[in-house]
Amino acid sequence: MARARAGHVNGIRGTLAPESAASILRAPTPPAWVEDALAHLPELLRDHANCEKKAASTALALMFAYPADRALATALSRLAREELRHFEQVTRAMAALAVPYVRQAPGRYAQRLRSALATCDPGRKLDLLLTGALIEARSAERFGLLAPRLPPPLARLYADLAGAEARHFTLYLDFARDRAPQEWQARLAVLAQREAELATEPDVTLRFHSGPLRARS
Ligand SMILES: [Fe+2]
Ligand SMILES: [Fe+2]
Repeated sequence: MARARAGHVNGIRGTLAPESAASILRAPTPPAWVEDALAHLPELLRDHANCEKKAASTALALMFAYPADRALATALSRLAREELRHFEQVTRAMAALAVPYVRQAPGRYAQRLRSALATCDPGRKLDLLLTGALIEARSAERFGLLAPRLPPPLARLYADLAGAEARHFTLYLDFARDRAPQEWQARLAVLAQREAELATEPDVTLRFHSGPLRARS
């Protein structure tokens, strides 16, 4: 599945890591989702903005949950700031495109993925790190799929974000491997299967991490 490499990534000694975000995803995004996203650009952008805020708050929540892990806290502090810059970038793009930022209900993805996590430690920290890796990997994949299909300046922004989210995927995965070297692969297999189902099965609302729409318009 993954090509091996060795060395330091994000200050953590690594022995095995996928080379690209797509390598931990169990299933690629269906082409129908890309078409649905392009046909529902205001909804996509609103959900994207919400996802950037959520990514920052998830990083902060991990810092609060595991304050003794100083290396993790330092990495997540930087990550949270970067996610908030992404939020500012996407809301600027929305304003330029005259897309109103109104309240929009979240989709099924994050909530149902979270329901698969261990509820307490030992196990919960690893699950949170792996879920972070999967969400960032799916984000990187989808930014990369959308970028060539979007008009500037969105195309440039999404191409840049594909690279940034791929770095975040690597950060979370490297911490998971380092903090739970015996357990991470088995848990990743379980969580990646759940993530792939949520990202590919027909969905009722178009969101950044949704499946393709059930009723095609
Ligand atoms: Fe981001
Ligand atoms: Fe991210």
